[in-house]
Amino acid sequence: MDAPRVNLWGRRVALGPLHLGLLPVLTRWENDPRTIELGGDEFQPVTEEVVRARLEPLLRGERAGWHGFAIYALPDLRPIGVANVRDVGTPHRTAEFGITIGDPADRGRGYGAEATRVLLRYAFDELGVHTMLLDTVSVNPAAIGAYQRAGFREIGRIRQARRIGGIVADVVLMECLAREFPAEAATAGKPRQIATNSAH
Ligand SMILES: CC(C)(COP(=O)(O)OP(=O)(O)OC[C@H]1O[C@@H](n2cnc3c(N)ncnc32)[C@H](O)[C@@H]1OP(=O)(O)O)[C@@H](O)C(=O)NCCC(=O)NCCS
Repeated sequence: MDAPRVNLWGRRVALGPLHLGLLPVLTRWENDPRTIELGGDEFQPVTEEVVRARLEPLLRGERAGWHGFAIYALPDLRPIGVANVRDVGTPHRTAEFGITIGDPADRGRGYGAEATRVLLRYAFDELGVHTMLLDTVSVNPAAIGAYQRAGFREIGRIRQARRIGGIVADVVLMECLAREFPAEAATAGKPRQIATNSAH
């Protein structure tokens, strides 16, 4: 496979448009029940055809305000996860953030926090987002830690609102404002190149 297209650079990760060549690895990640549950969704085994059917409308730009990316580990551009910003372009300039580092072996190594910072910088500077929101669960300290390190802060909890693997958990609401996002959290390393692509 050719080297993937990459638009956003950090020090240890780079982000680029999602593409159908990622289907095998996306399908592997989506068949891990723990990953899906921590992401807030109900687990169901999925075939590559199902993953393709979900992805293709997004790649065609059919969901307004959705900007999705693949995350690659540098320097070899190995795919390690996905991230997206949703609901961009409303008059409120408030959007929602989501990320998954697909393989458990790649978690806890700083990739998630750095990819979050890179995508926040892009959303604030290029997409005009003013306020970024996300929610996660109280039983996911790795997610809460990564988001805090990237610049999010907790703004509240919806108590006992989720059941994750039989455990009752709070939903943790977090926000990051453009004007509070530290300048040094910008992308580093190679110059950032923004390419227009239908996957965005
Ligand atoms: C959430 C996720 C994207 C974070 O990415 P990551 O690469 O694992 O996170 P990072 O390594 O950048 O940062 C994790 C932080 O949490 C801390 N952390 C990790 N496990 C922890 C634990 N059990 N308790 C407390 N802190 C923990 C780490 O020490 C690190 O903070 P630090 O750098 O200040 O030490 C990733 O773990 C993931 O995809 N998990 C599965 C699916 C999921 O949870 N999706 C998010 C749903 S909202």
